[in-house]
Formats: sequence, C-alpha cells, structure tokens
Amino acid sequence: MTPMAIAQLGEPVLRQPAQPVPDPRDPAIRTLWQRMLVTMEQAGGVGIAAPQVFEPLRLMIIASRPNARYPDAPQMDPVVLINPEIEHTGGESVSFVEGCLSVPGIRGRVWRPNEVTLRYLDTEGQPQRRTLSGFPARIFLHEFDHLEGRTFLDQVNSPDDLIAQSVWERQCQGA
Ligand code: NI
Repeated sequence: MTPMAIAQLGEPVLRQPAQPVPDPRDPAIRTLWQRMLVTMEQAGGVGIAAPQVFEPLRLMIIASRPNARYPDAPQMDPVVLINPEIEHTGGESVSFVEGCLSVPGIRGRVWRPNEVTLRYLDTEGQPQRRTLSGFPARIFLHEFDHLEGRTFLDQVNSPDDLIAQSVWERQCQGA
C-alpha cells in the first residue's frame, strides 16, 4: 500500500465541504481508508480526513498514539469513521496547540469542547454511536472541520495564537 499525496494549504479540496460516502462497503472505499491509514502513519499524524488526500468524501480516521509530533497522546486503536455526525458536544472548553498534516510548519492554539458524542457508519456500514473525551475528542473535531472545508486556522481566535513548529518544539523542550 503506497502512501498518498497530502493536500497542502491552498489546495481547493481543503476548502470544499465533503460529500457523504454512498456505500461504506464499496471496495474502492475500503482501499481509500487503507491507504489513508498508511499515509497517516507515515506522516506521523494522529488523524486524517479524506479531503486531505484529495478525496472530498465524509470519511476520517482518528488514531491517537504517542509519537514525535504528539509525545503525550494517549494510545488508541485507529477508528475509521464514515459519514460522521456530531450529536452533541459538552464538557469544558479546553485549548491545545494543534498541528495539521495539511498545514506544514505552523501550529495554532485552538479552543474546543472536551467531549463529543457522535454517530457514524463503521467500515461494514453499521451505525455506531460513541462518546470521545480529551485528546481523541479533539482529533475528531479537528478532522470533522476538514469535512466541512475548514482547517484549524479557521478556529484560532487571533493571529497571536499561531506558532511556528520550530518555536513550539523549542518551547516544549524548555518546559
Ligand atoms: Ni488537519
């Protein structure tokens, strides 16, 4: 399975709302999420949305795990979410300095609800409902933005909340 090209900021596909997946069990869809998984792992991501690989479909993977880009991330098995919908969000609003495979070199402090309950179809097309909290909830909401044609840059409160990756790394090491 070869990794796919990751759309970078400025590509129109990142700005366009994605379309529902008609049939989650379509072999082409299976191949798509399998390749997205490989692409995400190779890039060191903890999540990826189909528009990021130039497929404007409502499909994402969330896969929290500790790695070089997110050393403190909790470990979870990757979950493929097809046609996800937000049922409700809750908990405190919390901030975190997010990065994105489609926004190289920059991170941004984004405030998001700490908890989200969502519905989606699994890879067999079965409806699922799940509540995520903490970092996995953040990943989901970040990837959900991609399905709506948004990136974290749309969610920062001010340009002061943007930080170069290199500066962020230096500050983390100093902390
Ligand atoms: Ni992203």
